[in-house]
Amino acid sequence: MLSMIDLFAGCGGMTSGFAKAGYTPVLAVEWNHHAAATYAANFGEDHIRHTDIATIRDKDIPQADVIVGGPPCQGFSNLGSRNIDDPRNSLWREYLRFVRRANPSVFVIENVDRFLTSSEFALLKDEIDGYHLSAGILHAADFGVPQRRRRAIVIGSRIGPIPLPTPTHDRWHPVRAVLDGLPERPATTALPATGTDFLGTRVPGVYKSADLHIGRNPTPLSLRRYRHIPPGGGRFDLPVELMPRCWREKKTGTTDVMGRLRWDQPSLTVRTEFYKPEKGRYLHPQWEPGEHGHRVDRPITHLEAARLQSFPDEFRWCGTKVEIARQIGNAVPPQLARSIAEHLRPYLTGGAPTVPTCPLCHTFE
Ligand SMILES: C[S@@+](CC[C@H](N)C(=O)[O-])C[C@H]1O[C@@H](n2cnc3c(N)ncnc32)[C@H](O)[C@@H]1O
Repeated sequence: MLSMIDLFAGCGGMTSGFAKAGYTPVLAVEWNHHAAATYAANFGEDHIRHTDIATIRDKDIPQADVIVGGPPCQGFSNLGSRNIDDPRNSLWREYLRFVRRANPSVFVIENVDRFLTSSEFALLKDEIDGYHLSAGILHAADFGVPQRRRRAIVIGSRIGPIPLPTPTHDRWHPVRAVLDGLPERPATTALPATGTDFLGTRVPGVYKSADLHIGRNPTPLSLRRYRHIPPGGGRFDLPVELMPRCWREKKTGTTDVMGRLRWDQPSLTVRTEFYKPEKGRYLHPQWEPGEHGHRVDRPITHLEAARLQSFPDEFRWCGTKVEIARQIGNAVPPQLARSIAEHLRPYLTGGAPTVPTCPLCHTFE
């Protein structure tokens, strides 16, 4: 049995992948009440600490084979300064405190891609003793996630160098693999009015994945805009009279906003506000030209976003619509986490390497 600690656990995307690969979580730390409740609904209440990481005492940190998690990174690229008293570094100090105390054979950090040039990473390299570090960028689509999502991954090992995993997929899964067949018109715009007690406080949920297939109420102007945007297109496809003034005046810049997905490609990165088309390429991929063309003029639902993040349908959710969207967009795609977990196992156990099962390869190809 391999044990793990998940720091800054969110809803547990990372734990989900590691658990599928057979690891057992012995501690998770997450201070957001709704995210911690989602974690508890999936992995149990017994080992989740719903608190600021700084409040956990050394004596309450158990030993574990692996620590995973990435402290939120400010993303300041000030490699030159390396000011170890910078308050932004305090979460990194916490991470290092857990590594020293739990003494894992391996730790894994996931973060935004600019992390590798940040002062936080410089601090980590300066302060960590006895661990060999492998660092680089992994692309979720290379590991069976139907999404282009680049993430910095650092593997720290005190049992000899461990390289980053190599891609398991030479063909990327398209959006179609997870969105095809879901109702085009969600039956409701609200989550069911249920609540559950989590550590003495009421939170909305627990929801099944199907509950997350919720629509929105776009204005007539929004609907007229969506209608003009073909797969792969975006705000530049709008006729001038439908452009908001700020876009009319800004002729260059992000092309993804008000974008429409393509059925036969992975999505772009699913962020925390995927339900707002003006924030990225989040319009449903179904679109045909012409007055009577078959179009689905809405952003993706929470269920669709969770599937693009490779969350299994059996995953359970707690929180408001906004909080659940944040949990989904912040998560490490479970299928990427599972690939990392399977990659680490032979180094930890001396066993033979295994190739992670990919549910999409099995179901759709
Ligand atoms: C990027 S998310 C983690 C996602 C997670 N790894 C997953 O796969 O689902 C970072 C999390 O750190 C939590 N967090 C930030 N500061 C914290 C602190 N001081 N103590 C505990 N949790 C914290 C946030 O609430 C957020 O959920």
